[in-house]
Amino acid sequence: MSLSEEIIREFNKAFKKARVSGEPEPTAMVLATSDCNGSVTSRTVLLKALDENGFVFFTNTQSTKGRQLATCPRAAATFLWKASGCQVQLVGTVTCVDNEAADAYFSTRDRSSQIGAWASDQSAPLDSRETLLKRVRDLEEKFDSREVPRPPHWTGYVLNPETVEFWWQREFRLHDRFLYTLEDGTWTKQRLNP
Ligand SMILES: Cc1cc2nc3c(=O)[nH]c(=O)nc-3n(C[C@H](O)[C@H](O)[C@H](O)COP(=O)(O)O)c2cc1C
Repeated sequence: MSLSEEIIREFNKAFKKARVSGEPEPTAMVLATSDCNGSVTSRTVLLKALDENGFVFFTNTQSTKGRQLATCPRAAATFLWKASGCQVQLVGTVTCVDNEAADAYFSTRDRSSQIGAWASDQSAPLDSRETLLKRVRDLEEKFDSREVPRPPHWTGYVLNPETVEFWWQREFRLHDRFLYTLEDGTWTKQRLNP
């Protein structure tokens, strides 16, 4: 199901406000995932795209989040924009972007980040930093001056929300909260108590 134009517009307005207010990393969102036993984990990822299909981030499919998403394709994400007094929360389903979209984004990354994506066995134990740096050197040699392809274990995910909440800081903790909920294909908007 698609995000409404109103939600995208409200998100973009809030995002812009965060950026002009000096928020150092406005694309950062804390993403929570879980496995099928209900064990929940969270971490920060960067938002790389937003359209009617949802919020796109990129990561390693073998990481903790990647493995959890493979078994339980749902997530919650929170943006905190302290400088502008705003929080946005999303809850919904997660799917992978198609290979063309993942390749297209990967090709825009710095070469060093591309090599890093190959070098990092994300979330697996690592005996030393030297081991990682050696892997990087080996990969630099391997790819030489060739284009670095996208690793098969690295892709984009789309969080397609069923709820989106905008929280705006107001005086005396009487904050404004607006919850958008998708039900039977229709988005409704509800004001919530702070
Ligand atoms: C500001 C910030 C941005 C980050 N962005 C990403 C990202 O876009 N993708 C990613 O895989 N990890 C990103 N990370 C690292 C993750 O927070 C996390 O350490 C990593 O993805 C492994 O998470 P997992 O073991 O829970 O799967 C970021 C960390 C920080 C602090």
